[in-house]
Amino acid sequence: MSHDTIIVLDFGSQYTQLITRVIREQSVYSIQLAWNSDRNQIMDHNPKGIILSGGPASIYSQDSPTIPGHLLTLNIPILGICYGMQALTVKLNGNVAPSSSREYGLSLLTVTSKNQLIPEGQHKVWMSHGDRIETLPDGFQILAITDNAPIAAMCDPVRQYYGVQFHPEVKHTAVGPEIIRNFLFQICKITPSWTPESIINLSIDQIKEKIGSGRVIAAVSGGVDSTVAATLVHKAVGDQLDAVFVDTGLLRKNEKDQVVELIKKSLQIKLHTVEASKVFFDDLSGVKDPEQKRAIVGNRFIRLFEEQAQALGNPDYLVQGTIYPDVVESAAPDRGKSETIKTHHNVGGLPQDMKFSLVEPLRYLFKDEVRVIGEAIGIPKSLIWRQPFPGPGLAIRCIGEVTPDRIKVLQEADEIFREELFLANQQLSQEDYLRSVTSQAFAVLLPVKTVGVMGDQRTYQNVIALRSVTTDDFMTADWSRLPMELLAKISNRIVNEVPGINRVVYDITSKPPGTIEWE
Ligand code: XMP
Repeated sequence: MSHDTIIVLDFGSQYTQLITRVIREQSVYSIQLAWNSDRNQIMDHNPKGIILSGGPASIYSQDSPTIPGHLLTLNIPILGICYGMQALTVKLNGNVAPSSSREYGLSLLTVTSKNQLIPEGQHKVWMSHGDRIETLPDGFQILAITDNAPIAAMCDPVRQYYGVQFHPEVKHTAVGPEIIRNFLFQICKITPSWTPESIINLSIDQIKEKIGSGRVIAAVSGGVDSTVAATLVHKAVGDQLDAVFVDTGLLRKNEKDQVVELIKKSLQIKLHTVEASKVFFDDLSGVKDPEQKRAIVGNRFIRLFEEQAQALGNPDYLVQGTIYPDVVESAAPDRGKSETIKTHHNVGGLPQDMKFSLVEPLRYLFKDEVRVIGEAIGIPKSLIWRQPFPGPGLAIRCIGEVTPDRIKVLQEADEIFREELFLANQQLSQEDYLRSVTSQAFAVLLPVKTVGVMGDQRTYQNVIALRSVTTDDFMTADWSRLPMELLAKISNRIVNEVPGINRVVYDITSKPPGTIEWE
């Protein structure tokens, strides 16, 4: 089964992915392509409509992206948003000029002409533009105005081309979802079919077709993506799948047992556990540098995985939990050029020289969709809403040297912190807890000793730092304003229950300038 599709052409806006997501929220499949995609790249998806995103450029600056001519020969509706509207205007010989006053933030939009896209009346809309449309292209009419934009929305009702100067995809534009729905269902006449059930069925069919009677291997870490990907593959090809779990000794307390129990017993996936904590501790012995820790854990993981694959007769396929934001084509000018702050080795990352074909069942899904699908195929909520956990594990939360003893201390303190957070938030659903209270919370063991007093005895022991953040995307984050009483209880328990710790501090650094992890 194929889905009615909307293509979002990316002109470099920070909101492009958001457009794709709000469309999918309407159960309509949407895919993002670069603004200069050729006709075949577009027609491969047989789109029912095109949305042109906003973008940072001025339409008149040199090298600014333009609309490919072939787009206007497709005979399907087009909606240009902000820069996309301006690019459409210029392509069709209208006129765009710099506006005397930049419009940024909320503006009052007045609809001047009844139309299929924007409901009648006045609406608060989110604007962010310097240039504005001065002259309509032939065949167009004005739909709406603001104080600073005499043409804030326009349409050519014959060709079904629309343009809006504001951003319907952002939350601040309250009428935005209605506009998106009107474009999808009234103008493009789309049948919504992007439902969890259809995604699962399509995905299973595709996996079956790809793998046939081949053998397939998956690395599972207990993370959401690798678990959902492996479960989908298991549903498609059953015991042709072997899952591998590497125990690095760097996991949280009891985590290994929970993952094994879930994968093997609940999901009934054939699981091979590689007990390797000694090897990892040996490799890490004496190493203090964070990037070196990452490289050591990543490389050793890959070598062990290779050995396991060999022992299983070198399967033909490897499952990867790659998700859409990792692969999306983008015109964002700074994409790929950003400086490496930390190298993130994902557990299950593809070894360069291994001869596997990849199976990536989540390649076209956003994280929210992965979660919805995960729940629909029977993965427990507790795993679906699990906090992200870094591939190098506790090695990068154990500042300084990584030894079994130090990791044990860290595991105990971390367990107390997470347990108390859980108890304090029990009245919330796990989903709300993760979304609103803390997105990620953990303990960090510092290589610092301080003086304390317990009973009448002087102590000279290590410090635990507690880190808890709220964030939507983990690119920026704020420290959680946890209740003082809760922090007091956690501190008290850690100092009393974890031998070797006599002081607890709470990290009140946002990201930036801090990062979420300490290393
Ligand atoms: P930072 O510390 O960069 O973390 O603010 C952002 C998010 O990424 C996770 N993280 C990692 N994940 N391998 C991973 O798989 C890594 O090396 C790594 N380092 C950080 C971190 O837990 C947070 O969710």
